[in-house]
Amino acid sequence: MEIERTLHMVGGDGKDSYATNSRLSMKAIMETKPVLCKAIEGVFASLSSPAPAKIVIADLGCSSGPNTLLVVSGVIGMISTSGYPKMMELQFFLNDLPGNDFNYVFRSLQQLADRKEGLLEPPYYIAGLPGSFYTRLFPCQSVHLFHSSYALMWRSKVPEELSSGVHLNKGNIYIGKSTPSHVVKLFQKKFKEDFSLFLTLRQEELVSGGRMVLTFLGRKSSQMLAHGDVGTMWELLAQALQILVQKGHVNEEDLTTFNLPYYAPSVDEVTELIEESGLFDVEHTGVFESSWDPHDDSKSNGDAVADCARSADSIANCSIRAVIKPLITDHFGESIVDELFQVYVPLVAKHLEKGRAMYPVIVVSLKGRLQKLDTPAGSPYSVLFL
Ligand SMILES: C[S@@+](CC[C@H](N)C(=O)[O-])C[C@H]1O[C@@H](n2cnc3c(N)ncnc32)[C@H](O)[C@@H]1O
Repeated sequence: MEIERTLHMVGGDGKDSYATNSRLSMKAIMETKPVLCKAIEGVFASLSSPAPAKIVIADLGCSSGPNTLLVVSGVIGMISTSGYPKMMELQFFLNDLPGNDFNYVFRSLQQLADRKEGLLEPPYYIAGLPGSFYTRLFPCQSVHLFHSSYALMWRSKVPEELSSGVHLNKGNIYIGKSTPSHVVKLFQKKFKEDFSLFLTLRQEELVSGGRMVLTFLGRKSSQMLAHGDVGTMWELLAQALQILVQKGHVNEEDLTTFNLPYYAPSVDEVTELIEESGLFDVEHTGVFESSWDPHDDSKSNGDAVADCARSADSIANCSIRAVIKPLITDHFGESIVDELFQVYVPLVAKHLEKGRAMYPVIVVSLKGRLQKLDTPAGSPYSVLFL
């Protein structure tokens, strides 16, 4: 599976699209707004004097839909109220993989210009930036603020040993109860490689005092199956695929070779890798729980679900389908998608009889550190801010 081509949310603004079905992640963007606001204050406090004429902000894994604009308008609003230096301009880069519906993003930008905030805003310029955030995206020391929401649980690829068939994760598409421990370690190893690389690349691109606010699905505990329902939703989707195998509508071999390029890390795994890298100071770490049902705004935990069928339909056909359909279509063909989700909904509904399906979300805010470079002794450039 070539992730850079196949991984993207459903484009456009139709019934299945991410634009129509992104309320789940919209809630996380709202929840993490105070953290982003603090990071912006931090960027301004760290600016050299005289202040630069331009601030560069990048949203990594921006997708297409209202959330893309929500992040941009949120940042513009926060900067507008922060007493930004006169004459300052903002440059936004909206990054995602090349398969993202950038045309939709570009078409929707006019809505930003049309909104009336009533505040004096700095001039802003917006550009799309296709490419994987597991590669270098920007010149050295050119970005003041990175933001990324609901994207970093996606891996750069499925672990090679799984995609090549050296090891199998039979009956699963991610880490499930029957996943062998050596396969769990492969997912874990891929996360470590990807996240360490991500930190190194971004630190190279950040200006001195630059900040990075990252929000992604994770686990509260280091126990592998303590995912809340992060893992359960994928286990239930694997069960639905197994039912299609039994019906002869999906080839068993196709199911065996399908694994998600995904890993929801624990808070400890994340903070250990940040510390190990030595590249960032952690300014904030937090975890909050969110319901898989995008229309469930209740804050209390463990409640019974009033209407399991309706809630299951929202989870399956809004939260999961808009995200996973392109990967399913690429691997199994488009013809199975409707039947797969028809089978999936009752499995999710049965699961909801136990209570609301919740998952943990990790948010970290990082500040780039002063780095010592390996340069010849006595060089005037032996200490640089990266
Ligand atoms: C669930 S969407 C989140 C979109 C948006 N940030 C939000 O909060 O609604 C995750 C996005 O991350 C993108 N993504 C995943 N891996 C990526 C990578 N390596 N580089 C760039 N974007 C990536 C996906 O294509 C997808 O559009």
